[in-house]
Amino acid sequence: MGRIITFISGKGGVGKTTLVSNTALVLNELGKDTIAVDGNVTTPNLSMHLGIPLYPITLHDVLRGEAKVKEATYIHPTGLKIIPGSIGIKDLESMNLDLLDESLFYLAENSDYVLVDGAAGLGREAIKSMEIADDIVIATNPDLPSVTEALKVKNLAESFDTNVLGVVLNRITKRKTELTEDEIKSLLELPILGKIPEDPLISQSIHKKIPIVNHKSGSPASIAIKKFGANLAGEEPLIKSPGLFNRIANWLSR
Ligand SMILES: Nc1ncnc2c1ncn2[C@@H]1O[C@H](COP(=O)(O)OP(=O)(O)O)[C@@H](O)[C@H]1O
Ligand SMILES: [Mg+2]
Repeated sequence: MGRIITFISGKGGVGKTTLVSNTALVLNELGKDTIAVDGNVTTPNLSMHLGIPLYPITLHDVLRGEAKVKEATYIHPTGLKIIPGSIGIKDLESMNLDLLDESLFYLAENSDYVLVDGAAGLGREAIKSMEIADDIVIATNPDLPSVTEALKVKNLAESFDTNVLGVVLNRITKRKTELTEDEIKSLLELPILGKIPEDPLISQSIHKKIPIVNHKSGSPASIAIKKFGANLAGEEPLIKSPGLFNRIANWLSR
């Protein structure tokens, strides 16, 4: 039986989808049978990050009771499995979120990891994907608004008796205006599982629809996500030291 890990945040736009798409690829590269699920049902965009935005059958068909989750499973060229959401607004009608439970349990029975890209905030879909999870990872930026909202999500998650693994800090710039690691740790009382730097190559990789760990595998954000993903699986990260040519190429593409 695999683990269902939901990625959640208080504030939107902190980097959940970036984190889920890349971490799923990292786990897949480590040989783990991994499925990335777009659990952000009202504003799904996981499949855009992974480069295949239009699918004939999506999680929305499953949540309407019109398809089996197996039929909404697609294989990324890397071998990673993806359950996409539909980007059509009409597909939101007559959706039954309670059908998510059996779909995710089925997926977990047939894989090592099910990573769920959750919704931001404290709404019904965020709550649903937290309730079903074995573990929760909270994503935040190192600023006061994101961390304050992260605290609310943490308190909510703990009220369900769900295991909150910890927090991933994304878009670290080390500017003076940023909250420090110690400040965030004492505000959230959670371990810090990952520290992802601000990296301009991330927006470039989203534009190219190739997650950064594949697009620029030696970039600072890629290395940080590889460490986080490997740690999640209790493995050593697969990090090649970049040769001089790659270092110059990375530098030039900034
Ligand atoms: N480490 C990072 N460095 C630079 N930009 C980032 C980083 N992480 C995310 N971003 C940017 O932030 C935006 C929001 O990220 P996304 O993963 O879509 O957030 P969420 O899923 O939480 O709404 C993306 O468009 C991306 O360009
Ligand atoms: Mg998102």
